[in-house]
Amino acid sequence: MRRKTAVYPGSFDPITYGHLDILDRGLLIFDRIIIAIAKNIQKEALFSVEERAEMIREVVKGKKNVIVDSFDGLLVDYLKKVKANVVIRGLRAMSDFEYEFQMASINRTLNPEIDTIFMMTSKDYFFVSSRTVKEVASFGGSVRDFVPPIVEKKLKEKFGNLS
Ligand code: PNS
Repeated sequence: MRRKTAVYPGSFDPITYGHLDILDRGLLIFDRIIIAIAKNIQKEALFSVEERAEMIREVVKGKKNVIVDSFDGLLVDYLKKVKANVVIRGLRAMSDFEYEFQMASINRTLNPEIDTIFMMTSKDYFFVSSRTVKEVASFGGSVRDFVPPIVEKKLKEKFGNLS
């Protein structure tokens, strides 16, 4: 039987409980999910791709059917390489919609065989983003409710507030 694979791409700088919520719900729909960390995108990252991959591997280590990988260049080319044609993305609020709609449309124009499935973030996490988590951590605030313990620890190390 053919296994249905989806790619969950993103910056994951760092991974949050919001991402993990999408991942867990995606695993109920797909047989296998590849978490694909984008390299070389415009955004300046706090963590290197290796650091991000290490944190993700740690937090998904109990989950079956999850692969952690990274990619360079276009997402559509990566999908071809791993022989997948579904992308999963989380939608938090209306503000995400325009950007996501643009990306999904561009990807589908580049390769009409590709579809993007959007999952609405659970109500507990709709306000959580990697950007706000980094901001809170940079000022020494607690990010315990937003990220797994390993990520909290790495953020503390990065920002030098090792309390
Ligand atoms: O977590 P992010 O930063 O919102 O993820 C965005 C990401 C990495 C999915 C997107 O920037 C991407 O797919 N980049 C790869 C380059 C690409 O394929 N661009 C064309 C679509 S705009």
